Amino acid sequence: MSDTEALLQVEKLSAGYGRSRVLFDLSLVAQRRGAVAVLGRNGVGKSTLLKTLAGEIRPMSGVIRFDGAEAQDEPAERRARRGLGHVPQEQAVFAKLSVRENLLLGAIGQKDKNDIDDVLDFFPKLAQRLGQTAGTLSGGERKMLAIGRALLGRPRLLLLDEPTEGVWVGVIDEIAERLRRLASEMSLILVEQHIELALDVAHYAYVMDRGQVALEGAASDVRRDPRLLKYLSP
Ligand SMILES: Nc1ncnc2c1ncn2[C@@H]1O[C@H](COP(=O)(O)OP(=O)(O)OP(=O)(O)O)[C@@H](O)[C@H]1O
Ligand SMILES: [Mg+2]
Repeated sequence: MSDTEALLQVEKLSAGYGRSRVLFDLSLVAQRRGAVAVLGRNGVGKSTLLKTLAGEIRPMSGVIRFDGAEAQDEPAERRARRGLGHVPQEQAVFAKLSVRENLLLGAIGQKDKNDIDDVLDFFPKLAQRLGQTAGTLSGGERKMLAIGRALLGRPRLLLLDEPTEGVWVGVIDEIAERLRRLASEMSLILVEQHIELALDVAHYAYVMDRGQVALEGAASDVRRDPRLLKYLSP
């Protein structure tokens, strides 16, 4: 496989819950480096898309090609081992366990125990909270822990579902800076309600409407596109 091939290629993906369909023939591409933003109103299917990519939901049809191999029938654990990390929108950390315990669980199966130190260097706020129960962390600290845990799985593609949701405005910039750093060395799919932040971190954007891609293009073009407002307004 060549290094220039996209890391993730999604073709005509349809998925949902039981008989209710949420995603309709959605296609998307992520390269080996850089962030791709996924935007859209509440309920358009952004989290459903990430869950389907991660393997939590089985697609009704379509192809998910990850790192050269079809992944749509693979269980979530296998996709994770192949380098697909997922930071879900909710319940991304074990609330009753300490920060340290959460990180140790994230590092299970990894040979290199320095990885936890790397995560603590990356998010120094966590280093001061190692003994604290994750459920008592601030919104921002909890998001950092969730991302840190996912990084311990050494993903090549990280699916980030609203990493700044519930985060105090002063900490949002800090998280955005870390996402920029990650995007310079790996692939990110970033679901975000902070549109400016998402279009700033990402080089390419997909705007979803009712389970489909309504608009896509270079982030700088999408930012200027008058249709953006239409698809994001309530
Ligand atoms: N477990 C579930 N069972 C049934 N329907 C679900 C389930 N989870 C989500 N849905 C429905 O699927 C649709 C898409 O939900 P999804 O969570 O993917 O949207 P979203 O774009 O992530 O929204 P938000 O911006 O609020 O996070 C919604 O109509 C939602 O009610
Ligand atoms: Mg969501």
